[in-house]
Amino acid sequence: MDKKKIFITYNIPEAGIKLLLKKGYDVEVYSGKKLISKSELIKKVKNADGIITLLTDKIDKQVIDAMQRCKVIANYAAGYNNIDIEYAKAKGIIVTNTPDVLTDSTADLTMSLVLACMRQFNEGEKLMRSNKFQGWRPKLLLGYELKNKIFGILGMGRIGFAVAKRAYAFGCKIIYYSSKRHTDAEQLLKAKRVSLHTLVRESDIISLHVPLMEKTKKLLNKKLLSQMKNTSVLINTARGEVIDEEYLISLLKKKKIFAAGFDVYENEPKVNPELLKLENVVLLPHLGSATHEARNAMSELAAKNIIAVLSGRKSLTPVN
Ligand code: DGY
Repeated sequence: MDKKKIFITYNIPEAGIKLLLKKGYDVEVYSGKKLISKSELIKKVKNADGIITLLTDKIDKQVIDAMQRCKVIANYAAGYNNIDIEYAKAKGIIVTNTPDVLTDSTADLTMSLVLACMRQFNEGEKLMRSNKFQGWRPKLLLGYELKNKIFGILGMGRIGFAVAKRAYAFGCKIIYYSSKRHTDAEQLLKAKRVSLHTLVRESDIISLHVPLMEKTKKLLNKKLLSQMKNTSVLINTARGEVIDEEYLISLLKKKKIFAAGFDVYENEPKVNPELLKLENVVLLPHLGSATHEARNAMSELAAKNIIAVLSGRKSLTPVN
């Protein structure tokens, strides 16, 4: 019998690849230095029984239609807005993601951005690297403490809760906006569920943790953004499209809010050139899950999802 074929669109950490090879699958890892092009992707998915994709691979109807025997698409990410999951479902293809294993890494990075924004790390770094530091001064680069600040979590899912726990440990008061009540957050962290308007108006820090879906596109629109406190900090480690980025930039330019930390961008990997000119932003290149621990575990989980489906079992983390 022919070996089942697995196609992986990029060279991911090898933990998962090893699992697939151990199972006896015929594994092909795309060897290009750049991301795979759509035409190449269409060629490669044709004979694959399972595929591991990146969040940068657009798996639309055309790509799905090219799949002749694929049973499972395992996205190497928690987010899956790059895949037409309804169409895949209609074609009988299971789509999976990699939640949980990247929660702590993403929450750690979120707190790094919070602290970097509140204490102006980037301005301090710039001063040092340009050799302009003239010694301690009473009013040099004053920022804000976290203690007693109101920390607004927009989307109290796994990552939102992990961030809330960290913020609580720093002495913040937690408020949150979420479609569902989170009783653990309420009991353990005294978190208060509020409306989106209240969250935006009352928070000193707002951190975004909603998935990108039709209903969350530009969720933080002009009207909401303009209600933020002028000392507040906004952090986005979710997806760029959930904020009206252009309007946020205009607020930052006018110093209508204190700072913003970005790990994701509206037109990623393109970055709005106006953002690069601002001093009150911290910009990271989508590093939320970029730790050895998380990326290895994501690789294993993606492989386990493929193995489960191709062995006729339920996938571990299905999304459709
Ligand atoms: C995800 O998994 O969706 C993250 O954005 C990756 O860092």
